[in-house]
Amino acid sequence: MSNRRDFLKASLAVAAGASVGGISIASADTSSLPKGVIYTKENPGKWAKKVKSHLPVVTVDGGRVTVETKHGMSEKHFIVRHTIVAADGEVLGEKTFWPSDEEAKSVFELPAGKKALYATSFCNKHDMWVATIPA
Ligand SMILES: [Fe+2]
Repeated sequence: MSNRRDFLKASLAVAAGASVGGISIASADTSSLPKGVIYTKENPGKWAKKVKSHLPVVTVDGGRVTVETKHGMSEKHFIVRHTIVAADGEVLGEKTFWPSDEEAKSVFELPAGKKALYATSFCNKHDMWVATIPA
């Protein structure tokens, strides 16, 4: 894979049950995401005490998806980015934050006919977190 974005896309697609490189995994959960690279509620790894402040909280209202990370925002420690991703790894929405932002909250309007399966949240100190998006 040529870069981190390709790696994330392939990892999320495999977790969603898609076929990547001839490998097909049937589960549509976060348990098959690479431990120590992507952190989840089920696999927080070395950040076990950071789940509440780093796991993205997702609400869905029709075609609108709201992602919130209940994390402070300061110059030295902040949430860098949110994305929402479809089962096939297509990134359907993305927002980059700045330390000066008041909160790490993003709202996305889904493209017609698309469904987001994962939300990601990246902390500059505590890495990449992924949550599944409720149906
Ligand atoms: Fe953090």
